[in-house]
Amino acid sequence: MAETNDHSVANGALLFDPPSNLQNEAHVKSMQQYQKMYKQSIEDPETFWREISAQFYWKSPPTGKFFEYNFDVGKGPISIKWMAGAKTNICYNMLDRHIANGLGDKVAFYWEGNDPNDFGKVTYSELLARVCKFSNVLKNLGISRGDRVAIYMPMILDLSVAMLACARIGAIHSIVFAGYSSESLAERILDATCSAIITADGVWRGTKLLNLKKIVDDALKICDEKGHRVEKCVVVRHLSPSDEVVKTNVNGDIEEEPEACRPSRKLKINWQAGRDIWWHEMMTSVSTECEPEWMDAEDPLFMLYTSGSTGKPKGVLHTIGGYMLYTATTFKFVFDYQPEDVYWCTADVGWITGHSYVTYGPLGNGATGLIFEGTPFYPDAGRFWEIVDKYRVTKFYTAPTAIRALMKFGDDFVNKYKRDSLKILGTVGEPINPEAWLWYYRVVGNSKCAIVDTFWQTETGGHVLTPLPGATPTKPGSATFPFFGVIPALLTEEGKVIEGPGEGYLVFKQPWPSLMRTVYGNQERFETTYFKKFPGYYCTGDGAKRDEDGYIWITGRIDDMVNVSGHLLSTAEVESALITHKNVAEAASVSHPHSIKGECIYCFVTLKQGAEYTNDLVTELKNIVRAKIGPFAQPDFLQNAPALPKTRSGKIMRRILRKIAVGDRNLGDTSTLADESVIDVLFQNRPNNA
Ligand code: WTA
Repeated sequence: MAETNDHSVANGALLFDPPSNLQNEAHVKSMQQYQKMYKQSIEDPETFWREISAQFYWKSPPTGKFFEYNFDVGKGPISIKWMAGAKTNICYNMLDRHIANGLGDKVAFYWEGNDPNDFGKVTYSELLARVCKFSNVLKNLGISRGDRVAIYMPMILDLSVAMLACARIGAIHSIVFAGYSSESLAERILDATCSAIITADGVWRGTKLLNLKKIVDDALKICDEKGHRVEKCVVVRHLSPSDEVVKTNVNGDIEEEPEACRPSRKLKINWQAGRDIWWHEMMTSVSTECEPEWMDAEDPLFMLYTSGSTGKPKGVLHTIGGYMLYTATTFKFVFDYQPEDVYWCTADVGWITGHSYVTYGPLGNGATGLIFEGTPFYPDAGRFWEIVDKYRVTKFYTAPTAIRALMKFGDDFVNKYKRDSLKILGTVGEPINPEAWLWYYRVVGNSKCAIVDTFWQTETGGHVLTPLPGATPTKPGSATFPFFGVIPALLTEEGKVIEGPGEGYLVFKQPWPSLMRTVYGNQERFETTYFKKFPGYYCTGDGAKRDEDGYIWITGRIDDMVNVSGHLLSTAEVESALITHKNVAEAASVSHPHSIKGECIYCFVTLKQGAEYTNDLVTELKNIVRAKIGPFAQPDFLQNAPALPKTRSGKIMRRILRKIAVGDRNLGDTSTLADESVIDVLFQNRPNNA
């Protein structure tokens, strides 16, 4: 359809109708149908989700109520339960169930390596065999139901195998993005008291070789020092050519690994006998069969750490039954899943998007997915589209930061490829600016694909605000309407509900199946963070506005969090890293707009008496943040702050720092400042590049 007649203007914003070819085959074909299903889902959630649950395998039904919750701190502990007492196994539902339905030979995952000549695939049956083998390995290592297992791995098929094997034996996985530093990894291992870790020797990301084993060694040393011994460290030999993983091309022919993919010998790794074990050695002697452990629907499936505004990461805990129902259902409707789809989500499995929409959501539907190890820019900025053509990807899901970065490289990198298989383009992680939305729609999607801007969080487990591709007319920059079972509300500071158009705190009124159950080991923090401010509601920490047509637009975080390239970080986390430097007396960091990352970190540092602010110091400070958190957290701007703007009670006024960071002298009310003279000094000290 020509671009000129597929959109109109509504209240000043462009409005795009669902592509008509997609609409014909879609599960939900119109707004009327969406509204009808939505109404049922919120008025009678039990019937709605009970019908969906019938598609899954349950060894036995719920023993109590299908759905129970308390959202009101005044009425006792916050609790959320779906299908409690029902027995199931999520790995069984992801693999065995589909194989029993004849999908054994269907490709579960294509794998595309960092090097374009390095690729492979695995069918559902092959994946099950590998998962069973690794389940047996875990059992042989003494890991059983309820144990926590840390996973620190690159984007390789063994990562999916590891997580599904944990799920099969009832162990709880705690995946840490393999870009976090050893200190961050140690902090997460300690919080969850993991008894084992699974990693790989190393990985190439673009032209960079990362020594993952070294990071894990350092993390385990920290754990040892703090009195927690991780007994076992399973290491995938990823960089060296291995007999165990035979790389094939898309047609299944075995291919010799090109020299380019054999950089292994350059990487030296240490080996601690007794603790460190090669994955491939353990896999040779185990059976390809493993009876799943039958779990309660409300048993934990995994924890995933997310930044908290106090600086200490929170272990967001998800349970088996509800998470399974919701990730599979959102995947089906939001990507309008069809059996012949080749679906690709570019997110790393180390983030929630990778948990829900690389692994569990697609597998829950028996879909064919793609796992990509590399970066969008290697060997060049056309890589995404090259992969889209190579596998004829139909549904594609990425982040606004990637879209903005690729936009800067120009349209030629996109136009070089056909991309004619694409039908739906998804985005997640941060607000997408209309300019990037339109580029995604027009250039990448040739004005023929539906764009789904999906708003959700680690805590929500799956999409909560999102268009449905065959039904929802979209507006660039709006996550549109709630998914089934989700009841959003906008509240004023005082907790008053805003009806109709307006702007406020985005909250949800009742749980859907995959809302987090608690913060691991800290129910109190769970309640304080999400339920104290507005009793009776789950509070997202995001602001949003509703327009005249009822569309919801996320305006961004309203707490002290910074969203750098879709990765949430707390300003407190960065500050506590900075003050570990011997010359730093105090530090304050704020969010600063960034044309590609969306937001970046801007730090103000106050030095101790006699210390000098030099370029070397700036480098050291950046390196401290890299080492303490990870390279992705490195501040873009640092400035010397002889003093910080504070209230008379000593509270740092971040609102003012945010203005100084962008050079905006419109400071608003400064009457509560203890000492106004610091402001001019801070404006003078802004770095030249800010
Ligand atoms: C932001 C990622 C606007 C938001 C799945 C949220 C978004 C935080 C969107 C969660 C979107 C995510 N539009 N903002 N479509 N998606 N966000 O936990 O601030 O890594 O609270 O989960 O990302 O980040 P998290």
